[in-house]
Parts: sequence; structure tokens; C-alpha cells
Amino acid sequence: MGNFLAGKVIAVTGAGRGIGRAVALVAAAQGAAVVVNDHGVALDGREPASEVGESVAREIAAAGGRAVAVADDISTMAGGQRVVDVALAEYGRLDGVVCAAGILRERMLFNMTEEEWDPVLATHLKGTFTVFRAASAVMRRQRSGTLIGVTSGSHQGSVSQANYSAAKGGVVSLVRSAALGLHKYGVTANAVAPVARTRMSANVPTELKEIGEPEDVAALVVYLLSDRAREITGQVYTIAGPKIALWAQPREVRAGYAEGAWTPERIAEFLPGTVGADPMPLLSLLERRDGHG
Ligand SMILES: NC(=O)c1ccc[n+]([C@@H]2O[C@H](COP(=O)([O-])OP(=O)(O)OC[C@H]3O[C@@H](n4cnc5c(N)ncnc54)[C@H](O)[C@@H]3O)[C@@H](O)[C@H]2O)c1
Repeated sequence: MGNFLAGKVIAVTGAGRGIGRAVALVAAAQGAAVVVNDHGVALDGREPASEVGESVAREIAAAGGRAVAVADDISTMAGGQRVVDVALAEYGRLDGVVCAAGILRERMLFNMTEEEWDPVLATHLKGTFTVFRAASAVMRRQRSGTLIGVTSGSHQGSVSQANYSAAKGGVVSLVRSAALGLHKYGVTANAVAPVARTRMSANVPTELKEIGEPEDVAALVVYLLSDRAREITGQVYTIAGPKIALWAQPREVRAGYAEGAWTPERIAEFLPGTVGADPMPLLSLLERRDGHG
């Protein structure tokens, strides 16, 4: 056992399987008391069962660590609040949350139904909000804490998972808002975009060239939760096996200014040559793959 998180209390959503499970196990092995949240659903979010979270909590206890399971659905305000309340009731404080609960409902945009859109947004984006909301109120009082959102490289866009991509883009903006809003209270917020072998990545439509294990992701998350990363906030890191990468902050690429009012005609003359467009890396990839580029 290491001591990266000695004395800390960490809550992890989606901790019954995959990346969340690895984060919970490594956090406990590094000295944290862990709230293991998992609603125990199928990949599409259906058929909840509580057993997966409980079995991870038992695994942690069997290895000599401290853990408690919470089977609530974090896409509800009550579920997010309960994850935080259990941390306080069991361990008296909360030093970090990691929002790794996730589901997939893949469909092309032109065929996507409300039943495919809403639960995906509710699990990833609202499910990060509910936990961040409840945790940040505690951390603001404590004047310390770390919020970790789980995004994806597909926040850049996705051919057949517009719901998932939109939710993951939302997670990035939520994390940056948390970093800004909580900075003066000593609370940090960062996002991790993992690529790891789980039941979810087994269902990704494109072949993943760079991929690792959930334990690689857990190592980065545990570092970000630790005091060694106290100065890091508002960042997005990819971890894919041996690779760690930093995503750029959104920024304006080029600007131009009008003299007088804009009209569509003036913009048509001005924009292409002066401001132009910023090529989408994923679109270029698609064009190369499909042979149009
Ligand atoms: N695996 C990858 O390569 C990859 C890539 C990019 C992003 N991610 C993200 O990482 C996170 C973890 O994914 P994973 O690959 O470990 O998937 P996974 O399916 O193995 O685990 C997700 C867990 O979340 C739980 N869950 C789902 N809805 C929930 C809810 N409402 N409340 C509580 N728990 C709920 C599930 O029961 C499941 O155990 C997700 O946010 C996913 O989008 C994963």
C-alpha cells in the first residue's frame, strides 16, 4: 500500500466496474476511505442491481482498506447528495469525488430518440453535476477538495454518439466552471479523458489504436486527487496506456474587426480570407479513412 491519499475520503461514482472500480481500489490502496457508488446498470443504463458496488467495497475491506457502498442513481439530485452524505456520515469529511458513472446509447443523430438522448445526458452530465453540487458545498466549507470529471476524446465530436459527445463536452465545461468558481475556496477541478479496456470501450465503433488498462487511469486520477497535484486546476488530461496528454484550453484562433456594421455580404467577403476556419482533426481522419480527402 502507498500513502498518496492517506487520511483522505474519496467518493467514486460508477465504481462497481471498469475505470471507477480501478480508481476505488487504487485510492483505497493509497490510504483513502472510499465511498463506492454504483447503480449496477447494464451498458445502456437499464436493469439496476446493487451488487457490483457492494462487491468492490468488500474487495477493499478484504485487502485491509476502508469502503462503503452506495447503490443510488447519481442522475438524480437525491442520488448525488446521498453519495456525499454517506461520506460525511461514515468518515466525517470529503476530500475528493470522481464521477465515472456512464452509459451508452449509440445511434446516428438523424435516428436518435429522446429515450436515447435524455438518459445519456442525465448519467454523464447531470450525474457529474449532482455530485459536484453536493460535494462542492462541503468542500467550500472545508476550504479544500478536488472534483474530477470523466470526459472522453469524443467530446471533440462523434459520428454515431452525438448524445455521449455532447454530454462529455458538457463535462469539460462544467469542470472548468467548477475550477473557476471554487478557486478562491482552495478547491480544484480537473477532467480525465481515459482510453481503457472495459465493457464500454469494447462497444466503441472505431478501432482504438492507443488503449490501456483501467489501472493506468486510476494512477492518474489518484495523483490528481493527491496533495502533489494541489496546484493543478481547470485541466483536461488524456490517459491511454503509456500516453498522458494535455488538452488545450478553448481559445479564439484568429479575429478580424469590421469598420461599421457587419452585413452578410461584408462577412462573405471578409471571413474566408481573414478569419477562415479551423480544420476538425476528426473530420480529416474520416475523410482519409473514407477516401474523400
Ligand atoms: N473505457 C474507455 O475507454 C472510456 C473512454 C472515454 C471515456 N470513458 C468514461 O469513463 C467512465 C467509466 O467508463 P467505463 O469504461 O469504466 O464503463 P463501465 O460500463 O465499465 O462502468 C460504468 C459504471 O457506471 C455505472 N453507472 C451507470 N449509470 C449509473 C448511475 N446512474 N448511477 C450510478 N452508477 C451508474 C454502471 O453500473 C457501471 O458499473 C464513463 O464516464 C465513460 O464514459 C471511458
